[in-house]
Order: sequence, then C-alpha cells, then structure tokens
Amino acid sequence: MSELIEVLTKDGSYSLKSIFFQENFHSLLGALEETRLKFTAPSNLQRFKGKSLNVLDICFGLGYNTASLVNELIKQNSYLNLYALEIDKNPLNYSLGNESFMKLWAPKVKTIFESLYRKNYFEDQFFKCSLLWGDAREKINIIPSSMKFDLIYLDGFSPQKCPQLWTIEFLSKVTEKLNSQGYLITYSSSAAVRKTLRNLGLEIFTIKPSFKNRNFWSHGTVAISKFDRCELKPNFNFEKLSLMEEEHLLTKASIPYRDQGLNSSKEDIISRRLDEQFSSDLLSTNKWREKWGMTKLSVKS
Ligand SMILES: C[S@@+](CC[C@H](N)C(=O)[O-])C[C@H]1O[C@@H](n2cnc3c(N)ncnc32)[C@H](O)[C@@H]1O
Repeated sequence: MSELIEVLTKDGSYSLKSIFFQENFHSLLGALEETRLKFTAPSNLQRFKGKSLNVLDICFGLGYNTASLVNELIKQNSYLNLYALEIDKNPLNYSLGNESFMKLWAPKVKTIFESLYRKNYFEDQFFKCSLLWGDAREKINIIPSSMKFDLIYLDGFSPQKCPQLWTIEFLSKVTEKLNSQGYLITYSSSAAVRKTLRNLGLEIFTIKPSFKNRNFWSHGTVAISKFDRCELKPNFNFEKLSLMEEEHLLTKASIPYRDQGLNSSKEDIISRRLDEQFSSDLLSTNKWREKWGMTKLSVKS
C-alpha cells in the first residue's frame, strides 16, 4: 500500500504522492497552505485560548494538520487531547526525516511526532496525544465512547480514490464523536459527502476560498451539529452554501457512498454507487455543471 513519492509543492513545502491510491497527499499549490486554509483557519482556535480541547485527526499522514494545530495552540497556552488515526507509518517516518518539514513548526512538534512514531503516545503538561495505527473504520471503535471532540479533521484521499472513508456508515461513526458545538472539517466539497453529513443531522457550511472562480468555489466543508447562526461572524472562514452549492446537492453527485459492514473494498463501494446513480431520477451532474459554466474538476474534492 505504501509506495510513496516525494513532491515539492508550489509554496515550497514538501508532500507525498501515493502510488497505491494514485493521488497526492496535498494540493500541488502548497501542502502548508492547504493545511492552514482548509483546516487550521476554519477551526477558529482562538475559542480555546487558555482552555482545553479534544481533537480527532483522521488520516494523520505526514502530520501537517496536527503539526499546524499544535503550533498554534502552543502560542495560546491551550491544553490538547488528541487522537489520530492512520493506516501507514511511512508518511510520519518521512516527515520525521525531512528537516524542511520540521523547520515549519515549534520544536515541540518534533518531540511529539517522535514519540508518536515510537510509542504511539505522547504526554506532557499541555499535550496528550495518541496515534491509533490501522484502518480508521476499525480503529475509531477503540476511542472511548465518552470522548467527544471539539474538532474532527477528515483528510482522507478523495471519495473516488478512497471511498471507504466517506460512506454513510463511517461518517455516521465519525459524527457520533463530535460534541454538540464541535466542528467536523474536511477539504472535501463533494456533494455526496455534504449530503451525507446533512442527512446525519449536521448543519453544513462551505469554507471560503481565498479566490473564487467557476471551477474553484470552495476550500471544503465544516459540519456542526448545533450551530447558533447568530454566531456566524463575517470574519469566520466559512459561510452558508451558495445557491450553486445547494443545487449540487440535488444532482446524482449527491448519491452517497455505502459500506454496510464497514469492510467493503473500494471497487464494491464505487460499483454500488454507480448502480444507484444509474437508476436515480436526480438531475444529471453535467447539467448542473453546464448551468453554472464549469468544467469537470481534476483535483481531489
Ligand atoms: C490525503 S493523505 C492525508 C494527509 C495528511 N493529513 C497530512 O497532513 O499529510 C491520506 C492518508 O490517509 C491514509 N489512509 C488511507 N486509507 C486509510 C484507512 N482506511 N484508514 C486510515 N488511514 C488511511 C493514507 O495512508 C494517507 O496517509
């Protein structure tokens, strides 16, 4: 599963490409930029200044999302209780050996990452972190059921390449772990993922991109179970879905990924969904694209 190729992204930060999944870990525009814009900024971390928070990082990979989080929390004296899920140790091994990656963060990040690699665990006065290695569909069950998260980062490969982590059944397990004010954050703006999260009872928001054009309209999705809309401040990095995004959820692209036993192969999940799309009366996604003047995206979404 683990043949990985080093990739230098446009902002000068390093990432990897997986041969097995046939996909890059990050946008070629910048791994560091992606983490900051799509995960750290929408987290609104200032809410936790001097306080404690629980975070679940699904698909730890090289560790950009956790590293950026820790880096910000150090500056504001927050206490972090982190769980991370990841199937492959090699991306973390790679980042530990990449000086340029480690230079991006406070030295504490390296100490935590070394301990996670060797002992799957780290603890000091401010940070308590556990990394559960294995298939996230199984390992999520090991997290104590009393544990509810203020932030959940969902950073799997795209639904087309790794549908196992975007199914109704897996997302249902994930959302059970979210506390009522907690944010589930993902780079994905896929209609299937958004519709599933909405059907699971969450309110969904779009992460505002730094620039918008026809093919680049969102940096992802924030899903919250009980959000007081009056709280939505103009300086937040997310907002309600545009009409175009709402209409996306009425098309065949919104048909969910399903994995009843949480053990299906990628091929089975994709082929079940194709059958369902074929027999569905929903609007064709091409019609929606034509209406809004866009071309088919070639990036992970
Ligand atoms: C897009 S990359 C994650 C990027 C990561 N957040 C980072 O900062 O580098 C997707 C990750 O998902 C992991 N993965 C793939 N399938 C998985 C599964 N079933 N359970 C847990 N992790 C999985 C891959 O090994 C890879 O590290």
